[in-house]
Amino acid sequence: MGLIVGVVGATGAVGRKMLEVLEERNIDIEKLRVFASARSAGEKINFKDQVVTVELLTEEVMKDKFDYLLFSAGGSVSAQYAPIAAEAGNTVIDNSSQWRMTEGIPLVVPEVNAHVLKGYKGIIANPNCSTIQMVVALAPLHKRYGIDKVVVSTYQAVSGSGHKAIVELENQMKDANYPNNVYPKRIATNCIPHIDVFNDNGFTKEELKMVYETQKILEDNKIKVNSTTVRIPVFFSHSESVYVEFKETPEVSEVKQILSEAPGVIVLDNPEKNEYPTPLEVANSDDTYVGRIRKDLFNPNALSMWVVADNLRKGAATNAVQILEALETLK
Ligand code: A2P
Repeated sequence: MGLIVGVVGATGAVGRKMLEVLEERNIDIEKLRVFASARSAGEKINFKDQVVTVELLTEEVMKDKFDYLLFSAGGSVSAQYAPIAAEAGNTVIDNSSQWRMTEGIPLVVPEVNAHVLKGYKGIIANPNCSTIQMVVALAPLHKRYGIDKVVVSTYQAVSGSGHKAIVELENQMKDANYPNNVYPKRIATNCIPHIDVFNDNGFTKEELKMVYETQKILEDNKIKVNSTTVRIPVFFSHSESVYVEFKETPEVSEVKQILSEAPGVIVLDNPEKNEYPTPLEVANSDDTYVGRIRKDLFNPNALSMWVVADNLRKGAATNAVQILEALETLK
């Protein structure tokens, strides 16, 4: 028997990618249902050899029977509809930030903490895109050396702000006078150190997601994270400069060995041959790429690295589908 799967927000940038990844990974789907707002209800979407009609999202339809509901329609949609679906006995994998820090809700990157899914039913949160790729690279190093502190700066693609942001960058690249609607400033030929809203402490909500989600996923509230998140004029894949202070002394050769054996990680680090990951080259891959691994010049327990992953795939859709796969294996 195949699965009954629903995708909420199926017409968005992440929702479309979820459908692509479900198809690519050959998830055994008997019935697929796709949901969005009144703006696109009635539209047709191709999935495998079928044409599926977009249904209007309502509280009633969330009470129907689904094996899995993948949500990516923003926090307020998840806040309203995910509990109704879960109450009806459906498993929800939610890509929004709505439930991530709620106690008792698993926040999962399957390579890192799939064990928290055992015996669980209800809402499962998919972490923030920048957090996912960082913890995929950090988890195996934390295990070996123990992380004390992380200082990260991100270089984030516009697709993380949804389909309308992709259109805004495309248009601004062609037209110097095209207005900024999605971002507070022009994004073409610029970079904006402002993702999500500012908090009273001076950090943005995106930056704080990287702090607290990292602690939750790595199950260690003592890890100190300082984050600066920046939007850049790139369409797909987020890049991160990650500086890590460990409790024990890491050696670069061993770090490369550990990372090359870590699930979901590819080490691409031959600077002399210009081999290091870039967003353009990493886009469309499901792996997290790590390069520029080097020891700090002053602190023997610290190193820096450059971490790149496709934000719509590993940062969102692929991770969500991997959660579904992990739940299926645990059945
Ligand atoms: P719609 O196409 O009807 O606007 P993105 O992140 O790329 O902007 O996509 C957001 C996704 O979430 C879209 O599929 C959008 O559908 C969906 N969405 C947004 N608001 C709602 C809502 N109130 N109910 C259902 N779907 C929604």
